[in-house]
Amino acid sequence: MKTLMVLFAVAICSTAAHAGPDASGDAKAGKTLHDKGCVGCHANMFGGDGSKIYTRADHKVKTKQQLAAQVSACNANVGAGWFPEDEAHVAAYLNQQYYKFK
Ligand code: HEC
Repeated sequence: MKTLMVLFAVAICSTAAHAGPDASGDAKAGKTLHDKGCVGCHANMFGGDGSKIYTRADHKVKTKQQLAAQVSACNANVGAGWFPEDEAHVAAYLNQQYYKFK
């Protein structure tokens, strides 16, 4: 049941935001955006370059869809004003570099 709820929440989040990034973006462009807009906060929490937030054993993101939703959610928090394609770039970068979902 809990799993269902989570899936449901993720589905709502990603459709509510917009059509949604699908991790098919340009990882190179994503790295630039990510390093500029996202690292600071994660690094404060986890030290170093903050990448431990993605690689820690109990990391939250388990699927491509969750990754896209999390990028959207964090982007909304930051107020970076990214376009959906920017989110797709960052999701692609994080997937290529850390998560490696198929
Ligand atoms: C205001 C601080 C802050 C900023 C800025 C921020 N994040 Fe986050 N991020 C968090 C927090 C807090 C979590 C959740 C940690 C938890 O719940 O364990 C998180 C988690 C994540 C995760 C999930 C990690 C996992 O557990 O698998 C991803 C992916 C992510 N952020 C991406 C981004 C991206 C992309 C940006 C740039 C748009 C960004 N974040 C900017 C605070 C931030």
